[in-house]
Amino acid sequence: MSVKLVLSIPDLYAMKQAGEKISCLTVYDASFSAIIDRVGIELLLVGDSLGMVIQGANNTISVTIEQMIYHCRCVTQTRQRAIVIADLPFLTYSTTEMALLNAAKLMQQGGAQMVKLEGARIEVCQFLVQQGIPVCGHLGLLPQSIHLLGGYKIQGQTPEMANQLIHHAKQLQQAGISLLILECVPATLAKQISEMLTIPVIGIGAGLYCDGQVLVLYDLLGISVGKRPKFAKDFMKNAENIEQAIMNYHLEVKQQLFPTEAHSF
Ligand code: KIV
Repeated sequence: MSVKLVLSIPDLYAMKQAGEKISCLTVYDASFSAIIDRVGIELLLVGDSLGMVIQGANNTISVTIEQMIYHCRCVTQTRQRAIVIADLPFLTYSTTEMALLNAAKLMQQGGAQMVKLEGARIEVCQFLVQQGIPVCGHLGLLPQSIHLLGGYKIQGQTPEMANQLIHHAKQLQQAGISLLILECVPATLAKQISEMLTIPVIGIGAGLYCDGQVLVLYDLLGISVGKRPKFAKDFMKNAENIEQAIMNYHLEVKQQLFPTEAHSF
């Protein structure tokens, strides 16, 4: 495992090429940011899942750009090595102009190095990349579209839906995104997309064969409110403390021990 002082996006491409798995965790505050960074996790995602795990909402819809900037700033205060990705919340990237304004806030006020947005928003992604903003795409289960989807369920199961996902993944890569998150899709489909793309693909509920994995921190710590999703694992069960649990997650991702079939679709 190579340890660089400060990571950058080309390091992620090099890891994909070398077959080294990339680990990513969500994080929302300075204390956890310091621990996760120290452990060596490459990507810190300030996810709008904070609406659920910090604020207690049922979904991510109510999260605002001001809240994202605040949490992003908390995380970037103590992070030294990892790349910080911040979610553009619901309705903050409806037009290219809105996306640019809000991505600039996350980067300039929050200190993020990359912004993430959900869905096949090809034109918006292309525009942000043209302005020099690194973008992470997000396909499969899109939490910001929860009312349209009708629940947190697996996506891409029919041949038509799988083909559409493949098509969107190709379009996003062509638009210039640096990274793609695939959420809740069959492991075979995620494998196909990861092998097809040159950019790293990070999975959550997408099986073992992505280029990396992401989990919601509180699922890993076993303290999420409500039922733990099938794809999550409580790493506190075999750990003496929080840092060891996070380290065990990092090592299991690197050694391809997590996720198992029991955590996949
Ligand atoms: O907001 C978030 O935590 C996310 C992950 C589920 C990938 O987008």
